[in-house]
Amino acid sequence: MKRLATLAAASALALGLAACKQADGPAADATASAAGDLTLPVSINAAMVGMIDHSADYLFALGNGDMPRNDNDWHMVSNSAYEIMLGGAVIQIPGTGEFDRQWVQEPEWIRLSEELTEIGADAVELAQAKSTDQEAWRAVGDRLIQNCNECHQAYKPEIPSEGILRGSTERQSRGISIFGY
Ligand code: HEC
Repeated sequence: MKRLATLAAASALALGLAACKQADGPAADATASAAGDLTLPVSINAAMVGMIDHSADYLFALGNGDMPRNDNDWHMVSNSAYEIMLGGAVIQIPGTGEFDRQWVQEPEWIRLSEELTEIGADAVELAQAKSTDQEAWRAVGDRLIQNCNECHQAYKPEIPSEGILRGSTERQSRGISIFGY
């Protein structure tokens, strides 16, 4: 009798689980769409300036012969390479910008964002090897700038949607090292 009761309880549990499973369908979808609703706390315009543009500068520097001189410099380069990798994923998430939602739905936008991540991955490899092969860095820089330009030509409005522009490049244009020397 006791055994039966246990069995009954077990099958009630199984039934309950099955019911749960069924209810799981739409619930799981809701979770998935909650993840799909993830938004950036800033605009893609701000992510461009605050993350992608800033990190790209540290990678361009090496292609221009501005080599890191110590471990701290290498950390900057390696962090920047990771930021470019991550940046490609970040800009697939819409933020507070007026056109963000439109952009992230474009297959071409996604392709270019993923390409940005791939270029970042190659930069991570070079950074971790502490490569001072200027040609290799220049090749990464060339692919990077081509990626930026391709996307900007296709999507970037003439005036940034949030009015956020990149900062002064005076330091670099005067040939002063990005690493603070
Ligand atoms: C997938 C598309 C895409 C890629 C890749 C991309 N950008 Fe952008 N970027 C944009 C768009 C769109 C804007 C304009 C955002 C706005 O105004 O809301 C922008 C804006 C900017 C801005 C701010 C506006 C300005 O002119 O100062 C900078 C700086 C910038 N991008 C740098 C870069 C750099 C550097 C790279 C490459 C390492 C890059 N972007 C790669 C789409 C892209």
